[in-house]
Amino acid sequence: LKHIISCDQFKREDLENLFQLTDAMRGDLSHYKTGLADRIVATLFYEPSTRTRLSFEAAVLRLGGEIISTENAKEMSSTVKGESLEDTVRVIHGYSDALVLRHPDRNAAEEAAQVSEVPVINAGSGSGEHPTQALLDMYTIFKHHGTLDGLSVAVMGDLFYGRTIHSLLKLLALYRKVTVFGLSREELSLPDEYKRYLEERNLQYVSCRNFDDLPREVDVIYHTRTQTERNLNAGMEVEEFIIDDFVMDRFPQNAILMHPLPRNREIAREVDSDPRAKYFEQSRNGMYIRMGLLYQLFR
Ligand code: NCD
Repeated sequence: LKHIISCDQFKREDLENLFQLTDAMRGDLSHYKTGLADRIVATLFYEPSTRTRLSFEAAVLRLGGEIISTENAKEMSSTVKGESLEDTVRVIHGYSDALVLRHPDRNAAEEAAQVSEVPVINAGSGSGEHPTQALLDMYTIFKHHGTLDGLSVAVMGDLFYGRTIHSLLKLLALYRKVTVFGLSREELSLPDEYKRYLEERNLQYVSCRNFDDLPREVDVIYHTRTQTERNLNAGMEVEEFIIDDFVMDRFPQNAILMHPLPRNREIAREVDSDPRAKYFEQSRNGMYIRMGLLYQLFR
């Protein structure tokens, strides 16, 4: 049974195969469009989502599958009646062939996988991981730079609670000679467990506190929103690093600016017309990568 729970589970060749398949599907879907025929995928989201849920659902539909869904499981599922996640999963796996789960607890996907008889796909688990986002992020970087080795990547914003960052760093650690600059306020620094993970895999991680700490020659700038809904000191105002045209001037012409979205103030709207701004393209890539993943899952 193949679950997609954490980026720990991927190897370089898994990414290479997925990217190849995704490109092939984008080139000509005719060969793949019944890949999920007669399959039902359940999407169970206990947290808000636009991109992740809709892109999964679009991916299933484009491959000829069907969807059952609760878009607001926190309020609209039997959780309200006191049902545990395990029980909910035991019910839904009887109705569907795969379960896409987003949940505020960081262990939720793992717990669901332990009881599920169908593949569980983690679509974001608390402040833990968001593996499918990281796959589409790596795909986006690969499309632009043609390689994932030797890159210099600046990640910024909420490195503490940001699950997209945690998953992305794990995937970057699969590649050679990658350097990551992590720019955040002290209280939103990358947790030690991830720093250790990177160290053990020889990925160089440099903590930064100012834009000036970043080198000029970065290949990827990856910004994130402050995860206010997870911050235990809710209401605490964390000063943000705002990228505007002036900040973009310091970065090279071949760099790309990414963001998992939704964005708040951290990237000024004026930057959208900068050709290096790739966040909307990135979100579009999400649907294609999820098509590739789902196709592989049922092959
Ligand atoms: C991210 C998430 O849910 O972690 N959104 C997404 O899936 N693209 C990022 C965020 O919410 O800030």
